Amino acid sequence: MKQLALAALTAVVLAAPSQAQQPAPVDTAKVDAAVVVAFPTAPADWRPRFEQDETMKQCSLHHNLPPKAIADEIQKREKARIEYPADGKLLGDWKQGERIAQSGYGMRFTDYPPRQANGGNCYACHQLTKAEVSYGTIGPPLLNYGKNRNFSEADTKAVYEKIYNAHAAYPCSNMPRLGLNKVLTIDQIKDLVALVMSPDSPVNK
Ligand code: HEC
Repeated sequence: MKQLALAALTAVVLAAPSQAQQPAPVDTAKVDAAVVVAFPTAPADWRPRFEQDETMKQCSLHHNLPPKAIADEIQKREKARIEYPADGKLLGDWKQGERIAQSGYGMRFTDYPPRQANGGNCYACHQLTKAEVSYGTIGPPLLNYGKNRNFSEADTKAVYEKIYNAHAAYPCSNMPRLGLNKVLTIDQIKDLVALVMSPDSPVNK
């Protein structure tokens, strides 16, 4: 079945007639269908994940480099989708934040049905503390992030917004929209903001 799905996907990609300069327009309906075929065992409640929202559609269409007018539109829309904590406090517990940053649990086939809270998988893309030697480099290192910004309120808010919805700050970012897509809860995001932004966090020592 997996091979079949791969064949379907390859067929869609190869079927596009090649032109000298411009890439052929993509038949998005075909691609969408191929994606669904590729995950035959996906649980029914994952179905919405197969559907791209307006922002993802625009990012796909422009290969993640949208022209300025579209980028502005994406940023405006995504910013409006950010939900803030009801108590107005953005800093949680950095010790919990470190656990969430370390955890890659959630949204995988082996995590279904969910048996524990999702993680943020931050270390997959960022260096955060000096103690953790294993980290990815898709995102910039966040060592001393809060300290370098004098633990300012504006930057604390920016970090909350970045984690909740990365596309609001950088349209078509490679960083997942963790709050918007309900990967993390608002309380978990607060714990991560504390990890990045509080003076007593190992990120800033
Ligand atoms: C799949 C990779 C990926 C994951 C996972 C990820 N990030 Fe990011 N992050 C990025 C990239 C890439 C950037 C650079 C800006 C951009 O493209 O949005 C970034 C930027 C940031 C920034 C802003 C940095 C700056 O230059 O000011 C912060 C803060 C941040 N990430 C925190 C986190 C935290 C906390 C987590 C875990 C919840 C996380 N990131 C998970 C890829 C990732």
